[in-house]
Amino acid sequence: MATVATSSRRPYHVVVFGASGFTGQYVVEEVAKRLGEGPERNLKWAIAGRSRGKLEKVLQRVANNLDKPELKCAVEVIVADVGQPESLAIMCKQAVVVLNCVGPYRFYGEPVVKACIENGAHYIDICGEPQFLEGMELFLGRKAQESGVYVIGSCGFDSIPADMGILYTRQQFKGTLTAVESILTVTTGPEGGCGHDATWKSAVFGFADAAKLRFFRQQFNHKPLPVLGPRLSKRGSVFFCKGIGQYAVPFVGSDASVVRRTQRYLYEEHQQTPVQYCAYAGVGGLCSVLRLLWSGFFFWLLAKCSMGRSLLINFPEFFSRGMFTTAGPTQKQMEGTSFCMTFCGEGYSKGHDPSQSKPNMKITTEIRGPEPGYVATPILMVQAAMTLLNEPHALPDRGGVFTPGSAFARTSLIQRLQQRGLQFTVRGQQGAS
Ligand SMILES: NC(=O)c1ccc[n+]([C@@H]2O[C@H](COP(=O)([O-])OP(=O)(O)OC[C@H]3O[C@@H](n4cnc5c(N)ncnc54)[C@H](OP(=O)(O)O)[C@@H]3O)[C@@H](O)[C@H]2O)c1
Repeated sequence: MATVATSSRRPYHVVVFGASGFTGQYVVEEVAKRLGEGPERNLKWAIAGRSRGKLEKVLQRVANNLDKPELKCAVEVIVADVGQPESLAIMCKQAVVVLNCVGPYRFYGEPVVKACIENGAHYIDICGEPQFLEGMELFLGRKAQESGVYVIGSCGFDSIPADMGILYTRQQFKGTLTAVESILTVTTGPEGGCGHDATWKSAVFGFADAAKLRFFRQQFNHKPLPVLGPRLSKRGSVFFCKGIGQYAVPFVGSDASVVRRTQRYLYEEHQQTPVQYCAYAGVGGLCSVLRLLWSGFFFWLLAKCSMGRSLLINFPEFFSRGMFTTAGPTQKQMEGTSFCMTFCGEGYSKGHDPSQSKPNMKITTEIRGPEPGYVATPILMVQAAMTLLNEPHALPDRGGVFTPGSAFARTSLIQRLQQRGLQFTVRGQQGAS
């Protein structure tokens, strides 16, 4: 494995921007854990945000948690505000890669991406908002390409597991994979679990602004991707999934959008057969379904008008029925939570003609990992950064705006994640070999 690339002109390999946020603090902790280990031992890094006081507190907390008092002196603090472009430029000029944890990205993301492109820093975020992700590709893709800068969005739980999970399933499939359904289950311990309300805010505004996403997609003017084998039809809005013994609903995150963009890239750039994809999430028994439908109805009703949105934003705990809180999950809740994403794929063995017959092979793979939002996400984001720094030869030839799958398809990201506690496994494969 290559060692971390160094740059004489840039003092830091990594700058964590938004380090004072709920997620940012865990990203800082994850970067700090990697210090002193293997090829990352020489990593130089800094933290950034708009409040020096808050950033220093984060460093203090991380230093205490990890019993590494030296962090307080060794890690530089950079003050930068999204509203002050010159402060962003100063930050970006110092970094090889910026890990952006400042969200919701629809409000705060674009100036950071622009500053990275203009100042030659690669960019990674944990955005789960398709409108922002696709908008960056549409409006800044060419600039990023011309500058040789890699802008890689959705490098958190949204949507590395789904995107890399499809690539893993394809690698393991002994034929041509044509369609995959994924189903996500999240298991909590006795203390339960929840998300921090910033993600809830992103969802509220994303829902309200869905028309803009449709507009962006029209602007791309993409031709439909070819479909090999039967078209994968979407399941109903609620169905019972025998495989997990729970009711399931379509997963409304960014996974489907990100996977579709990756499949398009791999088809257009590398002539790979596109995989059709649908994402679902398990929600539990019938009572959970009824509760979800009830809160989903209010969400749909209120997110459409500004007064409704302000109610949703100001009372996340009430309207999400405790799924999102302003305090975020406790340490115990995070420790007791884990996820499993199962991929059920189908396709054709060699010599089997998709235009003449039904798929004759099936595969089931899965990814298991710790609490998705604030344990898995920092691991995913930091390993995405490590891959970018260590394996430049395996990245796309030019810069640009990329999904994780399109940026990291030829890298060892999956192996890196396996070493950090995310398990990718094949559960079974049937049919002609
Ligand atoms: N992909 C995933 O699975 C995943 C998981 C977790 C989170 N996320 C996303 O990550 C984002 C952050 O979530 P969070 O829970 O950490 O939110 P948060 O606690 O509200 O943190 C937001 C961060 O942004 C900073 N910030 C806000 N306005 C700023 C400005 N003008 N200039 C500079 N910094 C500014 C805040 O600084 P102050 O502390 O100074 O206010 C804080 O550090 C959200 O978009 C969320 O959806 C994604």
